[in-house]
Amino acid sequence: MAKLNGAYFVGTGLGVVIALVGILIYCFISIECCDCHWISLDEEGLEKDFTHKLFGQHIASEVIVKAIKGSLSIPDPKKPLTMSLHGYSGTGKNFVGQLIARNLYKNGMKSQYIHVFVSTLHFPHVQLTDQYQNELQMWIRGNVTLCPRSMFIFDEMDKMHPGVINAIKPFLDYTSDVDKVDYRKAIFIFLSNSGGDKINEFTLSILMSGKDRESIELSQLEEELSLMVFNDNNNGFWQTNLIQTNLIDYFIPFLPLEFKHVVSCVRAELASRGVKNESIVTIIASSMVYYPKEEKLFSLKGCKTVASKVNLYF
Ligand SMILES: *[C@@H]1O[C@H](CO)[C@@H](O)[C@H](O)[C@H]1NC(C)=O
Ligand SMILES: *[C@@H]1O[C@H](CO)[C@@H](O)[C@H](O)[C@H]1NC(C)=O
Repeated sequence: MAKLNGAYFVGTGLGVVIALVGILIYCFISIECCDCHWISLDEEGLEKDFTHKLFGQHIASEVIVKAIKGSLSIPDPKKPLTMSLHGYSGTGKNFVGQLIARNLYKNGMKSQYIHVFVSTLHFPHVQLTDQYQNELQMWIRGNVTLCPRSMFIFDEMDKMHPGVINAIKPFLDYTSDVDKVDYRKAIFIFLSNSGGDKINEFTLSILMSGKDRESIELSQLEEELSLMVFNDNNNGFWQTNLIQTNLIDYFIPFLPLEFKHVVSCVRAELASRGVKNESIVTIIASSMVYYPKEEKLFSLKGCKTVASKVNLYF
């Protein structure tokens, strides 16, 4: 009998070892796991990408790189990292999400630990708000349980129903564990156009006064943005609710792009297709629409339609 037991224990021991080796092989070779093999910050890559691939956003580059590096280096953060990116479409807000993803998750945007929600796509019907609230809370809870270092990107925040915004709020707070799940390692990124008008007006006034856009400091725009927040009724809820309650760590303005930035975007897009031709770069960049009417300083759609314009040529 004793012998049998011994054999039994050896057998179970072997089973456990095989299982562990199995998990190890599984994580290293094939399927993504929530561990540092799959999720670890490439600081150098992050800095490089923000310097060389994000055009015309000196404030965003500096603040976001600092925020990510700072927050991820703390082993025991007090709250999840929350950033709100403001500016017109085409200025690079979505792109920033991709840059963070590819330097933090081995699978980049394809990582199963990144979740992107677009208001008009995922939460389109006001009458379904209750359902959206429940689902969203369940998803955030479920996914953070699976992997504390999950990233949630909410696009079109300014079009999000207040009820849905309220559903996100509890997760952003300092409270360490809402229902026994620890959310403090999660990353929440909110994208919106709100404030874009102010940002553009301010940038225009700086350029018209003969100064460089690089002379604009975050503090100047923060002031502009916070004034706007309380005067803007259209998307006032998103603003006041999350901002007043101090749940957002960083407000990051995205400046309107000038011709030279569009040129950089086109050049990068062509390079990614193996094409190097400066005359095509100029032709495509010039075919974009610029405003204001007189000065034609800023690209109306930023770099948003660059890829499709390039398609027309090839
Ligand atoms: C994770 O989030 C996705 C939506 O992005 C959802 O479909 C899925 O059910 C969630 N997983 C869990 C375990 O809750
Ligand atoms: C660049 O593109 C233009 C316009 O399509 C073409 O005429 C020219 O030959 C190209 N130059 C090079 C170096 O390929």
